[in-house]
Amino acid sequence: MKKKHHIIAIDGHSSTGKSTLAKQLAEALDFLYIDTGAMYRAVTFYAMKKGWLSSDHFDKEALLKSLADIHISFKKNPETGRPEVLLNGENIEKEIRNMEVSNLVSIIAAVPEVRKKLVAEQRKMAENQNVVMDGRDIGSVVFPNADIKIFMTASPEMRATRRYNELKEKGLEVSYEEVLKNVNERDKMDSERKDSPLVKTKDAIVLDNTNMSKKEQFQRLFELISSIL
Ligand code: DC
Repeated sequence: MKKKHHIIAIDGHSSTGKSTLAKQLAEALDFLYIDTGAMYRAVTFYAMKKGWLSSDHFDKEALLKSLADIHISFKKNPETGRPEVLLNGENIEKEIRNMEVSNLVSIIAAVPEVRKKLVAEQRKMAENQNVVMDGRDIGSVVFPNADIKIFMTASPEMRATRRYNELKEKGLEVSYEEVLKNVNERDKMDSERKDSPLVKTKDAIVLDNTNMSKKEQFQRLFELISSIL
């Protein structure tokens, strides 16, 4: 019997352009796009704002007690047509992309209780609709039965260059060395954490885009997906 809803899972290393590809595919296929990294970033931002998380301090107990007070949702920006993340109703899309959040988010993403809450919400968001979801554990944990799984990677230097250019364009003050360090540290923490580490599942399509343009990558994937779904 034909399945009613489709799920496309996109996992991979940080700054491989997962969200760019996911957004393009979601738009082309008219699927809902869900950026799960933004959800981990939102919890990180919440803990930072409360004074529970900094580079030398993490009050995990305080965060765990307040997990039920954290409500994350997405709302389409009418100008760009793309979803932005809301934390308890407040748009924090810009705030969650800064280096401070990027440097601390792996600490939050390693907390099993946070993962449990967010995974449950991710599954709920995908109920009754076609989705493209990107993250680290989508094909392995959130939706092991996803229709299509894509695993994205690229060299750390290329990823750091892309991220550096992106941050500069947004007017944020960073050095290339700082960005490369963050890319390497996040790779290590994402792949070595105990709960839901970043893994390439056997059934995933591997996409190494070190030497591939965004357009080329989208065209290849779109053709492939169209032939499968
Ligand atoms: O994709 P991103 O860089 O915005 O993700 C932010 C962090 O959240 C990243 O360090 C890994 C973590 N993450 C995760 O553990 N599981 C997910 N499904 C998505 C992101």
